[in-house]
Amino acid sequence: MYPDNSSNSARLYDRALKVLPGGNSRHTVFFPPHPLYAVRAEGARVWDADGVARLDLINNYSALIHGHNHPQIVEAIVAQAHRLLSVAMPTEQEVELAELVCGRLPGVEQVRFGNSGTEGVMFTIKAARAFTGRARIAKVEGAYHGSDDTASVSVNPDPALWGDAKAPASVCPPGVSPGAAGDVICLPMNDVEAGRAILRAHADHLAGVIIDPLVKNLGYEPASPEWVAMLREETTRAGALLIFDEVYSFRLGFNGAQGALGITPDLTALGKVIGGGLPVGAVGGRADIMTPLFDPRGGRPRLGHGGTFNANPMTTAAGAVAMRLFDRAAFDRLSALSERLRKGLREAVKISGVPAVVRGRESMTSLFHIEGETPTYRDVVAAMQAFPQARLRAERFFRYMLDHGVMIGASGFFVLSTALTEADIDFVCETALGALRSLDRAAA
Ligand SMILES: Cc1ncc(COP(=O)(O)O)c(C=O)c1O
Repeated sequence: MYPDNSSNSARLYDRALKVLPGGNSRHTVFFPPHPLYAVRAEGARVWDADGVARLDLINNYSALIHGHNHPQIVEAIVAQAHRLLSVAMPTEQEVELAELVCGRLPGVEQVRFGNSGTEGVMFTIKAARAFTGRARIAKVEGAYHGSDDTASVSVNPDPALWGDAKAPASVCPPGVSPGAAGDVICLPMNDVEAGRAILRAHADHLAGVIIDPLVKNLGYEPASPEWVAMLREETTRAGALLIFDEVYSFRLGFNGAQGALGITPDLTALGKVIGGGLPVGAVGGRADIMTPLFDPRGGRPRLGHGGTFNANPMTTAAGAVAMRLFDRAAFDRLSALSERLRKGLREAVKISGVPAVVRGRESMTSLFHIEGETPTYRDVVAAMQAFPQARLRAERFFRYMLDHGVMIGASGFFVLSTALTEADIDFVCETALGALRSLDRAAA
């Protein structure tokens, strides 16, 4: 049972606290009283430091599209490790992964690789600024795009500072240069008219608009077709660039989120899935934007792009196999599994009668312990204020799942992999029913 003070994970945590603030290097994998430390994994299952196996329903926050240690991916990594780990030269693996990515995404004619989604986003933002000669980037209030300064503005703004709902203030978190706020414009999610008015007011200074087509922090709130069409129209009108952050939401369509939405962005940030489970990030886009910015043939490129491990051969070898395995049949099967999960979770919520809402698209699902929809960041904050038990219920739900063999994202996220079966999904739904019933009993 978790937590157990005599467990290996608890011991590792105590040891880790001396050298790692919080006991690890990533806030999203911390949960109180201590995280579980992983030892090994296979397919849909991961084993912790005490030998407990759990179904992995978070898949490294979307990166592991084929689950753990897919034999073909491992084989490619091992073969690559015997040939070359990293090198100050380009490789064929890099070319191959670029061909696969460009062949898949309508808005990506050319691509450059880095090592994290944060870098991918950072370079789309730099590219938009360098290409247009303008500074301002518009983003959705409450949307997460990694750790770049510009991207960090108003991810989690304090209600005391967030200003007018129709023209949200740009709020800098600690550690971000206060100057960043001046170059970031915040948009209310899916509010077509307010968004249009804001973009028109800033049109002369606008370099680009970045959106995640499925905003995780808002419980996987999808960008509405009208909203995306407006953003496409207004960026074109202003001479600015439309950027899709598909680091996470590439999973939304076989041809990425842009394929699913039928709208082609000028630039795309990528990461996670395209690295086959190894660290990756990428900036991609129209050739007439990418070439003049990144191509060094004419002398000094307009936008410097270095990185010791950019397009490292281990990642590109793994990524190419993962992308080839994620064919249309795999995509369709994963989508059907996810529908099964959402249906099962909704039934569990109904049977248990506890307040919770199940949302999501394709292989990404959320279960929040609140009532009603939360289409904007402010709605999420209001729902949490109206329902203060939500956080405690989420923690209890998560712990019950852990103690019954299922690992989800601690705040209620389920991200699937092709390694899962229908029987696994049914088990998750039954376990979730037990977890929800236990909440009911705890409330009584
Ligand atoms: C939408 C989005 N953009 C960017 C990032 C940053 O990616 P990375 O964690 O690889 O830096 C993430 C990470 O979760 C993300 O969800």
